[in-house]
Amino acid sequence: MNLIFLGPPGAGKGTLAAKAVDILKLPHISTGAIFRAAMAEGTPLGLKAKAIMEAGQLVDDETTIGLVKDRLAQDDVGGGYILDGFPRTIPQAEALAAFSKVQKVVNFDIPDETVLERLGGRRVCRKCGHNFHVIFDKPKTEGVCDHCGGEVYTRDDDKAEAIQKRLEVYRAQTAPLIDFYRAQGIMVDVDARPPVDQVVENFKKALGV
Ligand code: AP5
Repeated sequence: MNLIFLGPPGAGKGTLAAKAVDILKLPHISTGAIFRAAMAEGTPLGLKAKAIMEAGQLVDDETTIGLVKDRLAQDDVGGGYILDGFPRTIPQAEALAAFSKVQKVVNFDIPDETVLERLGGRRVCRKCGHNFHVIFDKPKTEGVCDHCGGEVYTRDDDKAEAIQKRLEVYRAQTAPLIDFYRAQGIMVDVDARPPVDQVVENFKKALGV
């Protein structure tokens, strides 16, 4: 199944994707994670994306579309994929339709106040990318990832100003995708407000798995 996870920053897309990988046996492809890995490695892509991401803006469509097209051509996506954070603009969605057939779009439904609470407390493993939260999902040892022992840090784009900007960018450029995909009849809505285990149940019910 070719799946898209759509929703505002901090809706829990990455957290649910980590669970959905086991449920659906599909690879999780996160454009944000690809950009962060490139930044950590100091590649030309990472250098280009760094300032843009820290300001809460979007990387340009041409770069992002090219990156996803290459990723979807790899062997592990033959049986489908979970695309998290792409598309984020109408031109990205139109480009994707030309090289891959999306079967379902999962819309993470969540109010702004919950987003702010989640992003304000998010911590991430620098090594494996696992998401933690200072209240809802603390690592057993502060600053250390439970899964790989990596350093747990605060993302640069989780600072207050960048969060506000990301929400503005989401409303202006990404939210129009809700109508775009709903009109195609492939959208399912998931209530993303409850605790993670309940969101997993909501997701399974919405997809009928
Ligand atoms: P990206 O990494 O995609 O960021 P995002 O969409 O802003 O999403 P987040 O990772 O912030 O949130 P999430 O929904 O995954 O929530 P999470 O599971 O972490 O993109 C980053 C940047 O890269 C963009 O701003 C842009 O610059 C660039 N970029 C990426 N894709 C691009 C594209 N297509 N085009 C152009 N530029 C692009 O959860 C958040 C927190 O809440 C965590 O702490 C988690 O533990 C906690 N939590 C999650 N679920 C629950 C729950 N149910 N209950 C309680 N706590 C929960």
